[in-house]
Parts: sequence; structure tokens; C-alpha cells
Amino acid sequence: MDKIVIEGGVPLSGEVAISGAKNAALPIIAATLLAPGVHRLYNVPPLADIRTAKKLLGLMGVQFEDGEPLVVDSSRLTGWMAPYETVKTMRAAVLVLGPLVARARQASVSLPGGCAIGARPIDQHLKGLEAMGVKITLNQGYVEAKAKRLHGADITLDLPTVTGTENLMMAATLANGVTRIINAAQEPEVSDLARFLTAMGAQIEGIGTDVLTIQGVKALTPASYTIMSDRIEAGTYLAAAAITKGQVTITNAPVPHMAAVLEKFHEAGVRLSTAGNRIMVEPGGSLTGVDVKTRAYPGFPTDMQAQYMALMTLAKGAAVITETIFENRFMHVSELERLGADITVSGNHAIVRERRQLHGAPVMATDLRASASLVIAGLAATGATEVLRVYHLDRGYARLVEKLSALGARIKRVAA
Ligand code: EPZ
Repeated sequence: MDKIVIEGGVPLSGEVAISGAKNAALPIIAATLLAPGVHRLYNVPPLADIRTAKKLLGLMGVQFEDGEPLVVDSSRLTGWMAPYETVKTMRAAVLVLGPLVARARQASVSLPGGCAIGARPIDQHLKGLEAMGVKITLNQGYVEAKAKRLHGADITLDLPTVTGTENLMMAATLANGVTRIINAAQEPEVSDLARFLTAMGAQIEGIGTDVLTIQGVKALTPASYTIMSDRIEAGTYLAAAAITKGQVTITNAPVPHMAAVLEKFHEAGVRLSTAGNRIMVEPGGSLTGVDVKTRAYPGFPTDMQAQYMALMTLAKGAAVITETIFENRFMHVSELERLGADITVSGNHAIVRERRQLHGAPVMATDLRASASLVIAGLAATGATEVLRVYHLDRGYARLVEKLSALGARIKRVAA
């Protein structure tokens, strides 16, 4: 397992381009199952999770041709199973459930099981599919789904689950009749999927709102589509620039979808400005502790909580960080403390108190965004920081070491 070694203390400078959004590309790749034929996807990020998704769909007979665009041929469907060994490493594999029951009228998808950040059940996915006429049975850890033609339904979600909304929206596109998903997730990646489905001929109203109305159609046709850029990757580089008091321009950022993050960083004293899809970060601001609560979109995203916490470790005063989405998303706290951070966790609150300096140390990545927060802290810490188990980072950050090196960071990846 590789590790990343960082000699901190260098103010980042230069320009970094943001890649395609992992959490848009994953549902869109799954959606190609809905329309047999050749799809062309542009701006797909080169990530471990994308490779996992291609392997998973490959098991079902889908063929891929790497390049720009990524060519996806879903003409032949020879299987409809998502095995445990795939789903346990990537929860997003459950996104094949909706498309498979819509196209193949059956699916056998492993329950995801828990993960580092929480239990993450899929009860809302299953409730919605049953409402559309899918027969669900649980058998040895697998969801066995069987259906005749799906029919439209009114589905009110208990909570705005992102992949739950995506699974149900995909299934509804080929159902007989109208489906309304109420209390739908409004994340931009859900809207990106909806636009891809529309490009395939789906009829969807309310995109970007908490009520999605889908008029089922008989068939969809393959489409070409450009994936949106990744607001969480952009926020991660924003935090890295801010904590190192650097002068950085972030290009190809989905600025309109980053309002809550940009506002919070501005409130905390980060000097930033935007122009189109560019975010300019300047040194000179003085970081002040500002509280944050994670919320479903358009609130402050839970996927930016760990990165923001790293920034707050060096901010004046204190900041209370409240995680409202996942029950266990503070795994990065004990690792940040190894770098000298002063953090107290009480329930779903983390109180981060000012430290003058962080000091490098070996730390352990536990999940994707926790590992990003350790890199951010390591960039500011004096001395060497070693981040172990960097496979977590590979899941969601394309060419992280190259991008940070190009910004002047003293960072390298070594085989551990
Ligand atoms: C998506 O996960 C993202 N992943 C996550 O990003 C992100 O953190 C999360 O949404 C919240 O924004 C992808 O889009 C591939 P949820 P998802 O269903 O859909 C509970 C990253 O770092 N819940 O919105 O799995 C669940 O337990 C990843 O890129 C139910 O109770 O999240 C959680 O506490 C991490 N029942 C909360 O809702 C359900 O049926 C939010 O989960 C579904 C979810």
C-alpha cells in the first residue's frame, strides 16, 4: 500500500484544473444500462471508483473503450448482479439497482453493509422500488429484485438520499405512468444525472428541486454527455490553498454549485473571489474559527466537512463543526490530533480550537474525505507528514500528487 509524504510549510501558488465529478459520473455510467447502444461520456474523471464501476458493468456485458470520450456500449446485457466484493468497496455500486429492474426486470445486488462513515442503509431505495411494483426479497445479504413492467408511483422519501433519489429516478424513466419523488435530493450531481437521462429521451420535470416528476417512456436511446466538474475536489483545493496562505487560481470549478462552501470560507477570513468557473484565492486574510453544520444541498456539504475541519485547526478562536448527515464522520479527528490539532468531539459536534502550528507525523487515512483533510493539514504542518492507506484518496482525487506538486507542494508518493 502506497503512502504520501509531504514536507509542509510551502504556500501553494499557481493554477489547478478541476476534473469531472465522481458523484455525477458514477450514476451516469449506471444509467447507460437503461438504453442499449453506444453512449459517449466526456470529462469522466480517471478515478479508482470509476474503474470499479466499469469492472462491475463489464460483468453484466457492458463494453468500455477508454479515452475522451469514454465510450460505453450497453447493447448486450448478459448479467444483472452486483457482487458483495464490489459493493463492499464501493457503496455507489447500488446505483445499478434502478436501471437493472427497469431494463432487465430483475437484479441481484449485495446490500452495501456499513462503511467507515456510518451504517448507510438503502431502505429508501427499496421502499421506492416496491412502490413501483418491484418485488424485493433479501437473501443471504443480497437484494433480489424482480418486476414485470414498473408502474408510476408517488414516493415520499423519509430523507433526501442522493443515490436513493438517483436509483428511483432512473427506474421511473421506463415505468408505465408518472412517478413523483417527493423530498428528493437536490445535489447538483442528481441534476447532472437528470440531464443525461433527458438527453436519452427521459421526461423529467422539477430538476434541481425536491419534487421530481418523471413520465415513463417505452424506451430510451443512447446519448453523449459531458459530466459536470467536481465541486468537492474544487473545495478541497480551496482549503489547501487557504491553509498554506497560498495564491492559487482554481479553474473549471462549478462555482454556481459552491455557494455554501465559498460563503463559509469567506466568513472564516479566506480571501477569495470568483470569475466564471474560476476561483482565485489570495494570501493575507486572517483565519478565524467559524461554526458550520453540514446539510443536504444547497447547505454546506458533508463531503467538505473534514477538509474544513483541517483548515479550522489553525484558525483564531474556535469553531464548532456539526455533522448532521452521517453518524460517524469524525474519523479524521484522531489523526488530525496526531498532527497537533486541538479537537474535542461531543456527539455529532467537533469543537476545534486554535493551534499556532501543526507538526508533521505519520497518519492513517480511513475514508476518502478524511484522507483529503490529512493531506491539507500536512501541507501546513512543519516537518514531514506521512499519509498511509492512500488508496482511499485514489477513489476520489484524480492526479492529486501531480496537481499539488504543480502548485509547489513538497509532496511525493512512495510505495509503503
Ligand atoms: C452520496 O452518498 C455521495 N456518494 C456521498 O459522497 C455523500 O457523502 C452523500 O451522498 C451525502 O451527500 C455518491 O453520490 C456516490 P445518502 P449516499 O443516501 O447516496 C441515510 C463521497 O465522499 N440513508 O444521501 O450513499 C444514510 O445512512 C461520498 O464522495 C438512509 O437512512 O448518501 C446517510 O446517513 C461519501 N436510508 C444519509 O441518509 C437510505 O435508504 C445520507 O445518505 C439512504 C440513505
